[in-house]
Amino acid sequence: MKFPKKLSDKSKIIYLNHCGVSPLYQGAVDAGHFFAKKHHALGINIFSKYGQILDLLHKAVASFLSTKDSNISFIRNTAEGLSMIAESFPFKKGDEIISYEHEYPSNHYPWLLQTRKGVKLILLKNSVLNKKKISENIAHLWSLEDLERAITKKTRIIALSHVQFTSGFSANLKRLGNICKNRNIFLIVDAAQSMGAMPLYPEKWNISAITSSGWKWLMGPIGSGLLYTSPNLRDNLSFTMAGADLMKQGENYLDHKWQPYKDGRRFEYSTPSYELAYQLLACFNDIFNKYSIEKIYKQIVNLQHIFLKEIDVKLFYPIEFPPEHSSCILSMISNRNPIHIAHDALESNNLCISARENYVRIGIHFYNTPEKVKKAAKILNRLGAK
Ligand SMILES: Cc1ncc(COP(=O)(O)O)c(C=O)c1O
Repeated sequence: MKFPKKLSDKSKIIYLNHCGVSPLYQGAVDAGHFFAKKHHALGINIFSKYGQILDLLHKAVASFLSTKDSNISFIRNTAEGLSMIAESFPFKKGDEIISYEHEYPSNHYPWLLQTRKGVKLILLKNSVLNKKKISENIAHLWSLEDLERAITKKTRIIALSHVQFTSGFSANLKRLGNICKNRNIFLIVDAAQSMGAMPLYPEKWNISAITSSGWKWLMGPIGSGLLYTSPNLRDNLSFTMAGADLMKQGENYLDHKWQPYKDGRRFEYSTPSYELAYQLLACFNDIFNKYSIEKIYKQIVNLQHIFLKEIDVKLFYPIEFPPEHSSCILSMISNRNPIHIAHDALESNNLCISARENYVRIGIHFYNTPEKVKKAAKILNRLGAK
């Protein structure tokens, strides 16, 4: 796979921390400069010249997710998307939400807040991998059996991450989607740790909503996020956030009739950051709509295998899942404190990885090279033995 020049990393740092924050893609840096200069030169006229940016972004993301533009919204972060859905869902007292006890806060608190309405939040307990002895009791994962047991007639929503941010355990979204379809449950997916790295097909897989931040695997700007919603989910939601951009009357600001958009624009309630949207658009135009996401993920898995061949498993205990549950995050248990390892890796060795809970997390994106990941493993072997 050949990548454009802007992707070949010229910095000295070996960057394996896409599960934390991505370096901003160079094409997005250029797009940001371009937009800021135009804003400087044009003032309010930036809107007439470049006001179509959100339409273009909707189109680009829709093409990436194989859906319609009208199902896409530009938002600020994962928590904003999940909060808008959770708050506007027509919960009745006694309704149930199923999630997992180790979800990232963005996919926990919006659901926890619903308990004040008498809704029950059921958190799946940590599970173990049957056959994989090495992962027992240390991998963060939930089981489909537990999930199916937790479903009742009152279950309205299942809210899970595509990829668990700690262990890298990935959900089989196709199977989850089927379970939800047969029982009339809305499947809401936090894809902050997969969008841009792994295939995601909301319509084929019966997913009602997908949210993601833009600055991890999508390589976009901090403070940008995306939301996919199905028309069926939107039909069920009321409104929590409201502003001028929600309304069909546009700039007739003193026409206060309630005429909200019914499509994804209903979540873009007021003035967004066009500059960040333009930067994120560059990521889709240059990368994610240019290379197939299947090939991107295959390349990530290849690079992970190269890394795993080099790493000393006596020092770093890799949490390896079967292919249907593995992901773009490779987590390992280390002898030394993961925070100290991540610190030493960056400070003295120009290697950026991350530490979360008990894990050393490796987030290799597709543009890395076999040489770089081999070098990273060698550095870690040295640091792990310290
Ligand atoms: C699973 C998951 N969801 C969401 C986020 C980010 O949330 P937000 O976009 O609300 O900052 C992260 C960041 O680490 C994450 O790992």
